[in-house]
Amino acid sequence: MSFKFIDLFAGIGGMRIPFEELGGECVFTSDWDKDAQKMYEVNFGEKPHGDITKIHEIDIPDHDVLLAGFPCQPFSIIGSRKGFEDTRGTLFFDIERILKAKRPKAFLLENVKQLRGHDKGRTLNVILNHLTALGYHVHWKVLNALNFGLPHKRERIFIVGLLHNYDFTFPQGTLNRKPLSDILEKKVDHSYFAAKVIQKRMKDNHKSRYNPGIWHVNKGGNISSHPYSCALRAGASYNYLLVNGKRRLTERECLRLLGFPESYKIVRTYMQMRKVTGNGVVVPVVRAIAKEIVSCLKGERPINELCNSLMSEQLPIFIPKIERKDYELVVSGR
Ligand SMILES: C[S@@+](CC[C@H](N)C(=O)[O-])C[C@H]1O[C@@H](n2cnc3c(N)ncnc32)[C@H](O)[C@@H]1O
Repeated sequence: MSFKFIDLFAGIGGMRIPFEELGGECVFTSDWDKDAQKMYEVNFGEKPHGDITKIHEIDIPDHDVLLAGFPCQPFSIIGSRKGFEDTRGTLFFDIERILKAKRPKAFLLENVKQLRGHDKGRTLNVILNHLTALGYHVHWKVLNALNFGLPHKRERIFIVGLLHNYDFTFPQGTLNRKPLSDILEKKVDHSYFAAKVIQKRMKDNHKSRYNPGIWHVNKGGNISSHPYSCALRAGASYNYLLVNGKRRLTERECLRLLGFPESYKIVRTYMQMRKVTGNGVVVPVVRAIAKEIVSCLKGERPINELCNSLMSEQLPIFIPKIERKDYELVVSGR
């Protein structure tokens, strides 16, 4: 099926890859980070537009699916209990205004899992209510990359919106996971190794059951080790993740932990790569969700007609019914 999509807060294109694989044509991208822009340009042949807050929705082409791995910082503003007005000036508001103007058939938003509990859940509710008020059937779930074939503990919240009330469900994931040894490079330059004094401190303070294993130093200085990597993070301390307590992950290993293809080109310095991969989304998780969304758009999933006709009327006053099913919140139109 051919369809058009836009890639907002595109980073290094982790959301784009699966939607292109499924036949999508990317018609607009935006990210203001210079390093992400360079990586994106080299790998996809187009330079993302800059600051989304400065781009008028009229200048964004029509599309069927909107993708946005939007940053988490604005939640301190959204969640300040002052109501809907507070969404102004935040990046979520930019997504909302584009959805309002362009009305794509579907959207996929991604953010840190902490969004779920931020301000006792009020922030997420504000977001869900705004999206529902635009006429979307909204579903959300926290998914972990560990359940999608990768040795990477990366939990993210995904929010899917569909204009029609399709029988959408989030993917379950898989029990099969690549072993860490498949991710790690065989020969690694000495520049990736931590100073001897750090390696010694690690060894003196922790005994690992795993080889290979990735040692994680938390903010309090406690060390744990696992047969997988804890979440890659932009702006984390230099040696917070060390393979066998000795060396940092290479750029290629970081990309592998996000499930990027081997053909993906690396054109930035080590520190720049750490930043952009720390911000990145996990491709197999997005791929699994993308399949579900595209399946809905292809008409392979039934539609609840009653809700659908109600939704298409675009009622000016919309009171969403919110019901909780484990971690999946379904906001329906009636
Ligand atoms: C969490 S990251 C998303 C990464 C992306 N999903 C990926 O796979 O690499 C958020 C991105 O939003 C970008 N960003 C933040 N504010 C922006 C703005 N005002 N306009 C455009 N991009 C922005 C950041 O540069 C960052 O790359």
